[in-house]
Amino acid sequence: MITKFNVDNVHFSIDVAQDTPVLWVLRDILNLTNTKYGCGVGECGACTVLLDNKAIRACSTPISMINNKSITTIANNEDKDLKKLQNAWIEEDVSQCGYCQPGQIINALALIKQTPLPSDEQIIFSMNGNICRCGTYNKIKTAIKTASKS
Ligand code: FES
Ligand code: FES
Repeated sequence: MITKFNVDNVHFSIDVAQDTPVLWVLRDILNLTNTKYGCGVGECGACTVLLDNKAIRACSTPISMINNKSITTIANNEDKDLKKLQNAWIEEDVSQCGYCQPGQIINALALIKQTPLPSDEQIIFSMNGNICRCGTYNKIKTAIKTASKS
């Protein structure tokens, strides 16, 4: 069955089994590898993308869920909020190995689109579940604050 969708404002139309996870489509079919594969079972957040401004886990979302919809990844270069977050991440020197950070930033993007000036508690609540093995959690919180004030 043909599925039609946008990724970062580019239109795609592909014929793929409807239960294929979005992450597999992005990485293996479309070769859009900026969105990362971590656990593959919805537990780590490395694969987070926005589906119409809500954070979803691409490894656990079937392609049927995005038919005629738009997703945003870390590679989007038109989203102003995403740009603010990326700049804040650099300013606060957040990343260590960097592997989790695309998912962290996209999850933060969903937060500031819904809550432009989040409190510490709202940041901790919203980012809970996005795992960072390098322990960058405090810097992530600071960067979200920085971005939200810019
Ligand atoms: S790879 Fe999707 S939640 Fe871990
Ligand atoms: S920066 Fe290494 S896992 Fe998060």
